[in-house]
Amino acid sequence: MSLQDFLSSLDSLVADASRAFEACSDADTLEEARVQYLGQKSGALRDIQKQMGGIDPADRKTAGMQLNQSKTAIQDAFNEAKSRLGQNEDGGIDSTFDPSLPGHHPVLGHVHPITQTIEHLMEIMGRMGFEAAEGPEVEDPWHNFVALNIPEDHPARDPLDNFYLATAGKGSVPGEEGSQLLRSQTSTVQIRVMEDKQPPIRVISLGRVYRPDAPDATHFPMFHQMEGLLVDRNVTMANLKTVLRVFAENYLGTDVEIRFRPSFFPFTEPSVEVDFYWNGNWVEFGGAGMVDPNVFEAVGYDPDEYSGFAFGLGVERLCMRRHGITDIRDLYSGDLRFLKQF
Ligand code: DAH
Repeated sequence: MSLQDFLSSLDSLVADASRAFEACSDADTLEEARVQYLGQKSGALRDIQKQMGGIDPADRKTAGMQLNQSKTAIQDAFNEAKSRLGQNEDGGIDSTFDPSLPGHHPVLGHVHPITQTIEHLMEIMGRMGFEAAEGPEVEDPWHNFVALNIPEDHPARDPLDNFYLATAGKGSVPGEEGSQLLRSQTSTVQIRVMEDKQPPIRVISLGRVYRPDAPDATHFPMFHQMEGLLVDRNVTMANLKTVLRVFAENYLGTDVEIRFRPSFFPFTEPSVEVDFYWNGNWVEFGGAGMVDPNVFEAVGYDPDEYSGFAFGLGVERLCMRRHGITDIRDLYSGDLRFLKQF
């Protein structure tokens, strides 16, 4: 046999053996393959070794060296397959596997802090008899402005202060009938609820609102509000103050104080700004007031028969105060190092 033939049969043997070991899926087939290639009596490597005698003595040294290298390569391929199948070289269980160590824990997701806050607020308000109501995030000018007594020329309707949607044809002019926008306040849901049913009404609505504000520590173009609406006969501002005080005591703690400052909103008359005294500071959390008679008329209620109050509070602001979060952007960065703390 020529040296050339000898070397090339060694090469194909290494390739065949490696492929065979790799294909084994259990210890029995691996053992069969080992006998086939590395067996002392009739293994394929042994057969080739026997051919050494027919090689030109001048080439035997080269042939012998190559034979040893091939043997090592086949042995390595076998060991690799063996450890892949979970056995170490002496046939025991892989020594890197320690059954007494705790396993890898799958990473479990959890509820986002804002969603946790929403659930908490719903629970507190639910105890005072407020039911959750929902409305769409893509709204029309009627629900976002007109029915809420926000006149055509009011700056709140400015395209620069709202996310109007690009629509073709009718309604393509922002703010006109038929146009659409991402709601800028959850007060829209007040209108939807009152269009839908008659008093008495006691609802809250928790959801996203959108305004084109540049993000900073206290602003984000999307945030959440908790809207409240109570309509019945003989509702007073004292009722409003009590509900908000009880709410704040439950959410922020019993030593919280509440303050109303005169303000203006088109949909309430009178209107107030709501501050809570908490941790040594007066902090504004939103607006409130007695539902404006024009709003009742827009939804077909008789303002002489019914009265009501409404309020809108910032959910992020509540969540941030309670948890000591100082930058609203942290809530929406998706940074797990932050989110995992809640
Ligand atoms: N919609 C107001 C805003 O986004 C908040 C608000 C004020 C809601 C007074 C109310 C209210 O229901 O009565 O700034």
